[in-house]
Amino acid sequence: MEMHMLDSLLIRRALPLLVSFTMLVVLALLSDYLLHVAGLVWVGRYLGITGTLFLLFSFIYSARKKKIVRSGPIKTFLMLHCRGGWIGTLMLLVHSGVHFNAILPWSATVLMLIVTGSGHVGQYIYRKARDEMKRKSGDEKLYWDSLTVKALGKWRKVHMPLVSLFLGLALLHILSIFFFWNWK
Ligand code: HEM
Ligand code: HEM
Repeated sequence: MEMHMLDSLLIRRALPLLVSFTMLVVLALLSDYLLHVAGLVWVGRYLGITGTLFLLFSFIYSARKKKIVRSGPIKTFLMLHCRGGWIGTLMLLVHSGVHFNAILPWSATVLMLIVTGSGHVGQYIYRKARDEMKRKSGDEKLYWDSLTVKALGKWRKVHMPLVSLFLGLALLHILSIFFFWNWK
């Protein structure tokens, strides 16, 4: 009985995140296919800019955490981070579909997908903590809180270098586009 409850909890928490990540990839492939069929491949080229803007917007969460943005519930900002990151990733995946020639931007694309996937894992750790906190009380709450902080700390050690590497590669790609302007 207890085991069964744990199972369904795991599925309830993990499944939406799994669906979210799968939908991201499926929708990207579908959009890319439809743009190709409709002869609108050029649209994908411009999605590079809009996708980048969405990712930049998603950093509003970091701005809130660092108190550059001073008010508003942190939960809302994390939600904006996830939604913005998700939509930006979708646009950039479609953008990447214009060509398959250059290693550098494609490495950025692969890393972006890993970073977004890792974001989903972080979100899972948060949800697990939130659910556990609801069921626990007093000292147990403190204990779960410290476990979560530890888990998130480990997760960050992996997540942050991946984000930096991704941003570096993306920046190189964007700079090289503006230097050579090969919008053919
Ligand atoms: C301001 C943002 C961006 C601009 C203006 C931009 C522009 C472009 C342009 C014009 C091309 C076409 C190059 C050609 O036709 O030869 C291109 C290709 C590509 N871009 Fe971007 N891009 C941006 C952001 C990004 C980001 C953030 C990523 C990665 C997540 C990315 C990944 C790619 C990929 C994979 C290709 C295909 C490369 C190939 O194999 O030829 N772009 N981009
Ligand atoms: C390419 C897209 C993404 C990038 C570049 C990105 C980048 C980041 C960065 C830099 C942080 C650290 C924030 C800080 O402490 O200042 C972070 C944290 C986080 N991200 Fe993302 N992210 C992306 C997509 C996502 C998505 C789609 C989700 C949700 C499914 C997500 C969930 C999270 C979570 C839960 C945290 C932990 C927040 C915390 O510990 O305070 N991320 N991400």
